[in-house]
This record gives sequence, structure tokens and C-alpha cells, in this order.
Amino acid sequence: MSNRRTFAIISHPDAGKTTLTEKLLLQGGAIHLAGEVKARGAARRARSDWMKIEQQRGISVTSSVMTFEKDGITFNLLDTPGHEDFSEDTYRTLTAVDSAIMVIDAAKGIEPQTRKLFEVCRLRSVPIITFVNKVDREGRSIFETLDEVADALALDVSPQSAPLGMGGLFTGVLDFASGTVARPEGESREYRGKRDAPGDLPEDLAEEIELTRIGYPEFDLEAYRNGDLTPVFFGSALKNFGVEELIAAIARWAPPPRPQPAGEDQITPDRDEVTGFIFKVQANMDPNHRDRIAFMRQVSGTFKRGMKLTPSGLGKPIAIHSPILFMAQDRELADTAQAGDIIGIPNHGTLRVGDTLSEKNQIRFTGLPNFAPEILRRVVLRDPTKTKQLRKALDDLSEEGVIQVFYPEIGGQWIVGVVGQLQLDVLVSRLEAEYKVEAVLEASPFATARWLAGDAKAMDEFESFNRANLARDRDGDLVFMAKSVWDVNYQQERNPDLTFSATKER
Ligand code: G4P
Repeated sequence: MSNRRTFAIISHPDAGKTTLTEKLLLQGGAIHLAGEVKARGAARRARSDWMKIEQQRGISVTSSVMTFEKDGITFNLLDTPGHEDFSEDTYRTLTAVDSAIMVIDAAKGIEPQTRKLFEVCRLRSVPIITFVNKVDREGRSIFETLDEVADALALDVSPQSAPLGMGGLFTGVLDFASGTVARPEGESREYRGKRDAPGDLPEDLAEEIELTRIGYPEFDLEAYRNGDLTPVFFGSALKNFGVEELIAAIARWAPPPRPQPAGEDQITPDRDEVTGFIFKVQANMDPNHRDRIAFMRQVSGTFKRGMKLTPSGLGKPIAIHSPILFMAQDRELADTAQAGDIIGIPNHGTLRVGDTLSEKNQIRFTGLPNFAPEILRRVVLRDPTKTKQLRKALDDLSEEGVIQVFYPEIGGQWIVGVVGQLQLDVLVSRLEAEYKVEAVLEASPFATARWLAGDAKAMDEFESFNRANLARDRDGDLVFMAKSVWDVNYQQERNPDLTFSATKER
């Protein structure tokens, strides 16, 4: 069976994702001192131009995929963007993982961003391990936390550990499987490996622990793998509690690479052919070179450096001479990679989000949709002579999945669509910084968009009557621009031969 575990951490900002990531890497031997992710990151970035650019852009490619190994298991941790806006980027990253860790703050419980990301995982039946963080501080009671997760997310919870006291009364974390308590040590009250028996607990605490152990479902691998049950670990990323148990749980329970849908077929990891799909593209790493990194989630086969793969969007094979593996220490040239691994492929715009790469060019992975935008804006140039640059920029950025772009059939007022407000800010600043295009975004008459499909005759007829409300997307596909959802429903009723789709699968 595959020794790959490809996963993401989902959480609300401030719950402790960064701290936990750091501790996971530390445990995996990828970095050597606590606090090094940030500090070392900065030092490392100075080493090459590439890294300098990452710093200027405030993004980090190195940290978007982190690979570490422990006890013969290779862990691929994919970073999900940390901001509050739900973005397509986040969604797509979750299409590339096999499982997730949900971090919640012991004092705050389930917060909005946690819930949204959880829903995305549920849509794809991505199994979830829950980590209740910050038990070294005052938090809600164990039951309150467990019951909230169960109720809010309609999920069975199966506690695997319990804090002995919280805040000032915190004396360690009891791991149910081993029956041992991880104890705080030293002035910082961190866990440094000291474990012992629980000993005699105060009566109310003993009762609380007993009820935690018997009052909830037992762990059930199948229910977890189906996304119906979540094992829950209590801990403190900052003080190192629960991290060992978490890694062990991923190694033991988290699913190895799963089959991926390709139309009617499921492509399994043991297929000989190398296949994968692009779930993320990061462009303009270096403004002088206009290079990009496309991130491919490998689905099957054994990849070897120099291998030729055919991207579905291109139709002809490309040789992959300098693939990148994202080991946490350093960017390494990948010589080989397995199903479940992520490979960075430098390119000049030939690879796009949603593309399938394969040796034989016969399959197409499905399930990486574009979403109907919830916010539409008209792009107005400050300097009208820059039309060409703007078109190039909008095409690039839509290729990258930052925005969607719609070119109306009538008139030259291009429209961009996004799922979250933040994407608009990113758009304006990147237009200026990377393309030297100053633009403002104005209200558009449209509220949403639907991709049209149907037989040619029905499409032609619709087109001739509704030209003012039609646009083409980046691929030239026809899109109905609607003033309201009511408008969509009305047109759907009048045109039963057409489908008005809120997502588009590439
Ligand atoms: P995020 O990536 O999910 O946004 O959270 P991050 O790890 O940055 O953690 C948010 C804050 O919570 C940080 O404090 C961090 O030190 C703290 N924190 C994380 N895990 C624990 C824990 O187990 N116990 C306690 N008590 N605190 C924890 P900050 O002061 O906002 O940032 P910093 O200045 O310490 O970096």
C-alpha cells in the first residue's frame, strides 16, 4: 500500500494553523528548532532571487506544499490560503488532498471559515481529523466542544484524548490509546517527551474523563474514511501537546492516495500510466521572466524526471525536465514521484488550472469546477491605450484562477467575476504591479453568470435573441449574464432545451 499521505489543514484564522504546521514539520525532522518556519524562511529567501520574489509578493511557494517523512511515511501537507474569504483557490487545493486536519480553538469552537471549509470537504467526502487547539489556555469544557462539533457539522465525534484541566489548572493531555499522560515541563510548560500514568485524579476530573471515554462513539475506520466520523485530539500546538498523536493518526488512519474521477471512470493510483491534474498555478514568480509554476497532483504511475506528459489543454506532449518537489528544507529537483505527490512544473503559460496531464492523453479528470461568480465588476482602464495589456493580464489571471473573465458579445466593457471580495483587491494590485495597468472596477449590471449548453440550434436561437446578455469566457464558451437569479430561472423555464450551469468543468 502507498506510504503517501496528502492532506491539508483547515481552520479559521488565528486558530493555530501556522503553529501546528511548524510543529508537524518539526516532528517530521524537516526543520530543527521551534519558531524556525518564519525565521528560517526569511533567511532562506535571501538565498536566491526566486526566494526574494516570494518575499516581495508576500506569498510563499515553498510553503504551499510541504513534504516531510516520518517512520517510512511521506506526508504531503498542502497549504490552504489563510484569509477569511472563501476563494476558488482554496477549493481547488482541497480537491488535491486525500484528507484534512480541522483545527479549532478550544475557547472559540467552530468559527465561520472552519465551517465553510468543512462543507467543501464534505462535498468531496474528505475525511477529517479534528485537533482542538490551545488547551493550555482557558477554554470550553470538553463536552461543549465535542457536542458543538457533532451538532454544527452533523458528524459523529470520537474523542481520542482529553486535557487534564485547562488554563491554570492544565496538567497534561491523556492519550486514550496508550493510557499515558503527556506532561508539561520547565518554565514554558511545554511537552518535551515526559509521559506517565494519570495517577489519582480529582473526582470531578476523573468523572469528566470517564464520560468522555464512554459517552461518544468508538473510532471506526470506515466511518472516518467515509467522512461520517471524526476522531478528536485535544492539544496545544504552541506547547507541543497532541502533535505526536496527530502525526501517528494520519499515518495510521488517513487514506493513502484515492482514486480520482475522470468522467465515468475512476483512475486508481496503481495504474501504470502517469496521470495527474493541475490544481493551482502561480504566475509571475519572476517579473522579468514571466514564468509560472503549475502544481500537479499526481494521481497514478511513477513519474521520472524528463518524462513526456501531454497536458489536455495543449494536446501535444511536453518534456518535464525540471520538476520541483517541495521538501520543507529546500526546493529539490524531483527525480521520481508517486501517486499522491505534488510536482511543481515551471512553464510559460501552457499549463492551466484544471488541465489533466497524462502519458497517453486519453483521460480527463473531472471535478475541478469553475464556480459561478458571486460578484461581477466592469473593468475600466484609466489609460485607454492599454487595452492590449489589460486583455493579456485578464487572460493570464483567469488562467491562474484568480478571477473569471467575460467578454460581452456586444460592446467592449470587459467583466470580471469573483467568488469573494478579496479576489477583487488582489486583481487590482496585481494588474498594477505585474502588468503596469491601472484600472478601476465599477458596478456591472449583472449579478451572476451561467454557462450555457445545449444543441446547436437551441444555442443559436437563444444567442440571436439575447445577444446583449451574452458573453464569452476565456475559452470562448458562451455564458449567460444574468441580472438576478430570478432571471436565470425565467430563462431556464423558457428554454428547456438549454442548460444554465452554475459551474463549468474543464
Ligand atoms: P493561524 O495560522 O491559524 O492564523 O494561527 P497561528 O498559528 O498564527 O496562531 C495564532 C495565535 O495563537 C498566535 O499568537 C499563536 O502563538 C497562538 N497559538 C497557537 N497555538 C496555540 C496554543 O496551543 N496555545 C496558545 N496559548 N496559543 C497558541 P499571536 O500572539 O497572535 O502570534 P505570535 O505573535 O505568537 O506569532
